[in-house]
Amino acid sequence: SDTPNGKLMMMHEEAAKLYHHVLLNTPAGAQALKYLKGRGMTDELINDFNLGFAPEQRILKPFLTQKVNDYQLLRKSGLFVENNEGELHDRFVGRVMYPLRNQYGRVIGFSGRVIGKVPEDTPKYLNSPETPIFNKRRTLFNFDVARKEARQASKIYLFEGFMDVISAYAAGVKNGVASMGTSLTEEQVAVLGRAVNQVDICYDGDSAGQNAIDRAISLFRDHQPQGMQLRVVQLPAGVDPDEYVQQNGATKFSKYLVDQEETVVDFYLRFYRINKNLNNQNELISYLDQSLKLLATLPSSLEQDMYLTKLAKEFDLDKATLKSQLVEISHRLG
Ligand code: GTP
Ligand code: MN
Ligand code: MN
Ligand code: MN
Ligand code: MN
Repeated sequence: SDTPNGKLMMMHEEAAKLYHHVLLNTPAGAQALKYLKGRGMTDELINDFNLGFAPEQRILKPFLTQKVNDYQLLRKSGLFVENNEGELHDRFVGRVMYPLRNQYGRVIGFSGRVIGKVPEDTPKYLNSPETPIFNKRRTLFNFDVARKEARQASKIYLFEGFMDVISAYAAGVKNGVASMGTSLTEEQVAVLGRAVNQVDICYDGDSAGQNAIDRAISLFRDHQPQGMQLRVVQLPAGVDPDEYVQQNGATKFSKYLVDQEETVVDFYLRFYRINKNLNNQNELISYLDQSLKLLATLPSSLEQDMYLTKLAKEFDLDKATLKSQLVEISHRLG
């Protein structure tokens, strides 16, 4: 369309086409293509996500200027950086390009990754800046596809990275999204809440990932619509979903997602143990206290009872004692 925003999207789509062409059909894209193939990306995936390459040589400006001879529009697109003389230069150079789409599938921005090992003081991923069409806080990578898939799957997987979303997709899990590198925002929680009633958080299996799960849960707790189900799938230590797929294949990955899906409470019963030695009596007591405080917030006494049974069994404790402690804590918390 010819509204200013429509033009900006058209410019992004033209840019995506150019970058995609460079990746697949030119010598300048050969190294990037080799890098992507080395990461298990097939031609089909490269096409489905319209991946591209922005070469060292700045080719976007002459290309787009032929189509759009409007300095203000070029400036506003975020595809260029402006120098002190007011000249525009391609923002993305020497990067593998991941087009970012809005919920209708229109291209609204890019994330560009360094090829291979990341040099020091270079950001691994460079995102488009905020523009009239790109709001980082609201955008989720692959959301347009995931929300359609979710009509069948009835849930969306929330991953940390673009490569996690793409590898999950390759493994048949097409209902995955990722936030834009920043931690999850309340706007993204609202977007998810309008689309599905279950979200499974599946972040990287490292301590940063675990802490990010904790933060994401709090955000959902404060901003999710009523009735929204939240689950966690914890990856094995040290791997992210992309690496899991590359190492174990599609079948094992989709099975893992089903088998390892756990409730938020189960996540915290594990999370609270990190850096605690439960063979030490004081640390065990503090762990149980923390856990019972969590159970006290559950609305269902049946659910409370099930977790009490688990804790009593695991630590060989009297369930009735745990229960009276829980009642006491509930009273204290009001
Ligand atoms: P790969 O190394 O390509 O597999 O990336 P990853 O997705 O595993 O990266 P990582 O787990 O380190 O980070 C998760 C997500 O955070 C990425 O997909 C990006 O969206 C974002 N991110 C990582 N590094 C940067 C960065 O340097 N700048 C920005 N803006 N975002 C980043
Ligand atoms: Mn193509
Ligand atoms: Mn990570
Ligand atoms: Mn990762
Ligand atoms: Mn990764």
